[in-house]
Amino acid sequence: MKVSIIGGGGRVGSCAAFALECAGLSSELQIIDANAEAAEGEALDLLHGSSAFAGQRIYTGCYKRAANSDIFVITAGLRRKPDESRLDLIGRNVALFRQILGSIREGGFKSDAIVLVVSNPVDILTYIASQEIGLPASQVMGLGTMLDTSRFRSLIAKELKVPSTQVNATILGEHGDSMFPVWSSASINGLPIKKELSPMVQSRIFERTKTSGAEVIKRKGGAGYAVGATIAQVIRAITLDTREILPVSSVQNGAYGLRDVAISVPTIVGRSGIVKHVEFELSPKESLALSNSAAELKKTIAKCSR
Ligand code: 2OP
Repeated sequence: MKVSIIGGGGRVGSCAAFALECAGLSSELQIIDANAEAAEGEALDLLHGSSAFAGQRIYTGCYKRAANSDIFVITAGLRRKPDESRLDLIGRNVALFRQILGSIREGGFKSDAIVLVVSNPVDILTYIASQEIGLPASQVMGLGTMLDTSRFRSLIAKELKVPSTQVNATILGEHGDSMFPVWSSASINGLPIKKELSPMVQSRIFERTKTSGAEVIKRKGGAGYAVGATIAQVIRAITLDTREILPVSSVQNGAYGLRDVAISVPTIVGRSGIVKHVEFELSPKESLALSNSAAELKKTIAKCSR
């Protein structure tokens, strides 16, 4: 399995590459970046460690060399400032993103290739990629609220002093200001936790989840390890065809009454990409939050259409 990371010379892309290397999830990793020197440096540093893991072949190269990729991960893009929303990046990142889509098309890709968008605003860019890359929409997905869900679980675990691996709680909607928590089905090892956390603590945990991106940007300039780890989770579902249910972003075709918008809902992910959107029951408050989030995203999509 070959994964090409476009933006791999940057923090998010290189952390994703390292997470994939540690997990041994791909036999080949190609690092592509506008900053060729940074791409070379990251590829070399990763290659030096490959004997500790799965002896992966790791290199840089052009989009043409990436044509045999099974998965394209796009992390390239400008980062927002702590006081900016991810949607504020629209003006700066859409043009760059469309250039990248053009380069992928020019270099060529396999008919069963998968595109995983990470660059922000990820839901908008996922929608644009699904419309413009030239692959079926089911083969295009975005990291969506995977990272928010991981943050959410870690903060609940910290509060309840349990391992985060035993916390099952999900964030859905936009990877952005209109994301929302699914408390109605949150559990620890299958045991409901709603009663373990007062409404005040629940809101404190969700607020910190929602602002964690800005908090990490403020403290260290931007996320790396956690976003790399969640990218690896999605890549694992694809490469191992696990068909696990993940809150990735993808263009909706009817689940929860949603269409013509890329947003995170419970989604079965496998080697073919998006296998199915699963309409798990949401509380009335959660259903409303999902509709509101989709409406917010549609407003921005309208601004970017060609
Ligand atoms: C974050 O939330 C990079 O959007 C990403 O940190």
